Amino acid sequence: MLAPRTGRRLIDSQTLMEELVELADSVVLVTGGAGGLGEAAVRRVAAAGASVVIADLADDRAEKLAADLGPKATYVRTDVTDQESVLQAVAAAERLGTFRYAVIAHGGFGVAQKVVQRDGTPAALDGFTKTIDLYLTGTYNVLRLAAAAIARTEPDGEGQRGAVVATASIAAFEGQIGQSAYAAAKAGVVGLTIVAARDLGSLGIRVVTIAPGTMRTPIMEAVGEEALAKFAANIPNPRRLGKPEEYASLVAHALENTYLNGETIRLDGAQRFTPR
Ligand SMILES: NC(=O)c1ccc[n+]([C@@H]2O[C@H](COP(=O)([O-])OP(=O)(O)OC[C@H]3O[C@@H](n4cnc5c(N)ncnc54)[C@H](O)[C@@H]3O)[C@@H](O)[C@H]2O)c1
Repeated sequence: MLAPRTGRRLIDSQTLMEELVELADSVVLVTGGAGGLGEAAVRRVAAAGASVVIADLADDRAEKLAADLGPKATYVRTDVTDQESVLQAVAAAERLGTFRYAVIAHGGFGVAQKVVQRDGTPAALDGFTKTIDLYLTGTYNVLRLAAAAIARTEPDGEGQRGAVVATASIAAFEGQIGQSAYAAAKAGVVGLTIVAARDLGSLGIRVVTIAPGTMRTPIMEAVGEEALAKFAANIPNPRRLGKPEEYASLVAHALENTYLNGETIRLDGAQRFTPR
């Protein structure tokens, strides 16, 4: 439709709706789905009408969450670093309905170590390898196995099949002292994003990464209010930690907005990590 005077194209609500896909009636697999950010994403997509696979290792929290959400949520004990385990979670997602979306939000530890320590000894290699395994290799493992399954679904009228949202961190861009393993893993996720979006373009699968700043998840709350206030003081606006719901809202948007692809979006209140 063209505007009568300017000749510019008007976007009518019909066109807008076509560019936002429906989460309802789709299946979303969320790794780390019982964690701070993962749970918020699970609740957000479930509220939008999607069925959800909670792929995690935390049995108690995941089972409680699945029970809370009812029959559209299923917990599948999943180790993201293990091929067979992820394949089982993917198979469960396919059984639940049309599996179109994966959200990669697992995590749990970080090995903090300077490259060379005070006493002159080099950092241990196993901490680095373990961190890369969980955050980067685990992300790639889920991405590749989920994408192969999403590729088996029927495309919509525009050739779209679905999307994968990964989770990096602002440490990917300005990791702090001692964070080399975590920062390298997250930078790997950022680097992967455009390549995966290109690789999967012909299959109609998009890839978007979210790079959160400091979010108020239970693991962060464990450091205590005093430390949290210090973190908040370095966040320009709003001067507080991010809410898991804000992450979940961006996840839902990234899944729904079919023109968002191959990009990493910072979600950080303009926070920039300082060296310490
Ligand atoms: N919370 C923050 O401030 C913040 C900031 C930037 C980035 N992130 C990233 O967001 C992600 C989620 O962070 P969070 O704060 O929600 O963490 P969290 O510890 O609350 O949740 C992580 C979840 O991942 C699960 N998990 C751990 N190892 C797993 C494995 N091998 N397979 C499957 N699941 C596994 C844990 O059981 C847990 O439920 C992480 O990748 C983290 O690096 C978090």
